[in-house]
Amino acid sequence: MEIISSTADLRARLRGEASIAFVPTMGNLHEGHLDLTRIAREHATLVVVSIFVNPLQFGANEDFGKYPRTLQTDCDRLQGVADMVFAPTERELYPQPQQVTVQPPLENELCGAFRPGHFRGVATVVLKLLNIVQPQVAVFGKKDYQQLYVIRQVVAQLNLPVEILGGETVRAQDGLALSSRNQYLSVAERTEAAFLYRMLVGMRQALLDGATDHAVLERTATKTLGARGWQVDYVAVRAQDTLLPPQSDERKLVILAAARLGQTRLIDNLEVCI
Ligand code: PAJ
Repeated sequence: MEIISSTADLRARLRGEASIAFVPTMGNLHEGHLDLTRIAREHATLVVVSIFVNPLQFGANEDFGKYPRTLQTDCDRLQGVADMVFAPTERELYPQPQQVTVQPPLENELCGAFRPGHFRGVATVVLKLLNIVQPQVAVFGKKDYQQLYVIRQVVAQLNLPVEILGGETVRAQDGLALSSRNQYLSVAERTEAAFLYRMLVGMRQALLDGATDHAVLERTATKTLGARGWQVDYVAVRAQDTLLPPQSDERKLVILAAARLGQTRLIDNLEVCI
């Protein structure tokens, strides 16, 4: 497996490759990332994984400084799964003092309401990476549901010739979605963290059982989490395809939630087809 840090080297190496699948990451790889890489493998002969902790998508008070950077272990994990790792420096990706940014739809909704500028940072870096790698296929996790939506919109609206695939969320045995941020949790918080998924499963059941008042479901979930010590950013039932509040006849729904346990912000979601 090759590890490349310069854009020019990567471009030179990929020139003429007709079948590239790409998995962008911020590293500290877990089974969720590896699963996306395996999906990538099914769609191309060459699999490229990028590892870059993107400063543009972190707010001033967020965890950019302490985000786990584990390049060596990550590369060990990718042996035999990926063909190439692109691990650029910050200076390599952002050499200019003034950065052009992409402003995606819903950037101030859901997580965007609590993370100003986050989705602009994501859209910008993903567009840059797609332009550098020029894959036929790129794979993203449904774990970051709004991110996947934003990327699909950027690709469709800016006419990028790439197919975007969404991989299912990989979970720990107790249901907690794997995330690099889980390691910030204390032992007690880690136990409680699994409740977020249990709550989503409960809400899904309520919807399947015919509940139609989404506002009531959202309020109840928020209260329940609050009583258990979570600080809730939002719990929302939305339409899968638009991430907007659903029309009454919408059948493809998704429940999205973001809440903090102590200092750690966790997100999760669950699709429901009624
Ligand atoms: P990162 O958090 O490293 O995630 C990289 C990819 O892995 C994303 O597509 C994310 O949705 C997916 N992923 C994370 N946890 C997962 C899980 N438990 N199961 C399945 N997939 C999972 O998301 C980012 O990095 C960045 O925002 C990035 C897109 C790389 C842009 O900087």
